[in-house]
Amino acid sequence: MAVPTPLSDFVAAYAQSGTVRAHMPGHKGKAFLGCEALDITEIRGADALYEADGIIAQSEAIAARHFGAGRTLYSAEGSSQCIRAMLCLAAGLHRGPARPLILAGRNVHKAFIHACALLDLDVRWLMPEGEGGGSVCSCPITPAGLEQALGGCAAAPCAVYITAPDYLGGSPDIAALAAVCRRHGLPLLVDNAHGAYLRFLTPSRHPLDLGAAMTCDSAHKTLPVLTGGAYLHISKAWLDRLPGDPRLAMGLFGSTSPSYLILQSLDLCNRYLETYGQRLADFVDALQGLRRRLTQKGWHLAQSDPLRLVVCGPGEGRGLARKLRQGGVECEYADPTAVVLMLTPENTPEDLARIETAFGLPEGGARRTVTLPALPLPRQVMSIRQAVLSPAESIPACRAVGRICAAPTVACPPAVPIAVSGEIITQAVADAFGAYGIDRVDVVREPDGRGE
Ligand SMILES: Cc1ncc(COP(=O)(O)O)c(C=O)c1O
Repeated sequence: MAVPTPLSDFVAAYAQSGTVRAHMPGHKGKAFLGCEALDITEIRGADALYEADGIIAQSEAIAARHFGAGRTLYSAEGSSQCIRAMLCLAAGLHRGPARPLILAGRNVHKAFIHACALLDLDVRWLMPEGEGGGSVCSCPITPAGLEQALGGCAAAPCAVYITAPDYLGGSPDIAALAAVCRRHGLPLLVDNAHGAYLRFLTPSRHPLDLGAAMTCDSAHKTLPVLTGGAYLHISKAWLDRLPGDPRLAMGLFGSTSPSYLILQSLDLCNRYLETYGQRLADFVDALQGLRRRLTQKGWHLAQSDPLRLVVCGPGEGRGLARKLRQGGVECEYADPTAVVLMLTPENTPEDLARIETAFGLPEGGARRTVTLPALPLPRQVMSIRQAVLSPAESIPACRAVGRICAAPTVACPPAVPIAVSGEIITQAVADAFGAYGIDRVDVVREPDGRGE
């Protein structure tokens, strides 16, 4: 029997019914963009995302089964909303008068910083270990490193937070980190924005299956879901251990008018996922073939998750991105060290052939990996919340040394902060701003009015 799609069925029937739309939205189902007939609001029978007990709840339960989650909640506002909810739920575990503390890998997305500002969380950073300092995107963390960091915490943290896969497709050993967290009775939260599809590999490489307590997955990044569609997954093991209400936590950070187009897209994805595993396996094989051929031609491909092509050099990454664009291929991300292409089984064999042609041969044939210097952790002089909410000014990055970072300054993508709100900007940080093409930064305004 086909997987039910209660949400999409309801809206399709409503769109066909000829009912007078005496309710929001204002387009009344007329085709301005083309999709308006399916764009509805919380009318009778349509359920409501933050009080779901009808067709949305049924659809979420089907998604939870696909992902093996204790509970899955839909987001129409991306992983960004799920990250805030995840941290809010984890902060509920905190006891004591001090601010809740989270241990987090330094390569967080800026949504994490925003969540810390909103929830007034303290962060102890897990810095990249070994040779991982070459890109702000990556942050290798070992179980021994995590053990040591936990041992060095003056106050008890309420969670450990990592980003995996990161923007370059790297990931620490999640199962080993989860085992450390288990020993300490802590939930491991994984920003899996880039890895919803990992569940459908054989064997699954999804963080929930590797021991994570909660994950956010941007369905829209790797599955056929409209932009904004995401999941908050809670593991079976942690569902009853979290004191807060997950639905409430999502609602705290979401619009009261979530997009039904996005919700239908998540609903339809449930049916797609039913037969996705084999298509994914075939596509991963095809991509592996392309990887082999590019390597034979002299391109240096970095290790990454299976749906990504990450090319390091030769020369600077942005030059290769320009070359690919001239060849009719737009990549996901390029910085001085790497070019990232994100592909899915919705890319055709012709797409892969065009990508291969656009690469051509590396110039000069030389393999050269450009690396950026590792960034020492800057000194923190203010809480993230204080810094984000302080009066701020925007100044040229080259003049920011010695000032306090206000809003996290990021190149987007990858939206990974180089300096975090509340930290003093050092010369090394200013140099890194330059390397990532960041010209201006927001700094906390000084009390004596000394500005630019
Ligand atoms: C690692 C990471 N986490 C979280 C996010 C936020 O996801 P979303 O755009 O779905 O809100 C992104 C977005 O690119 C990301 O790259």
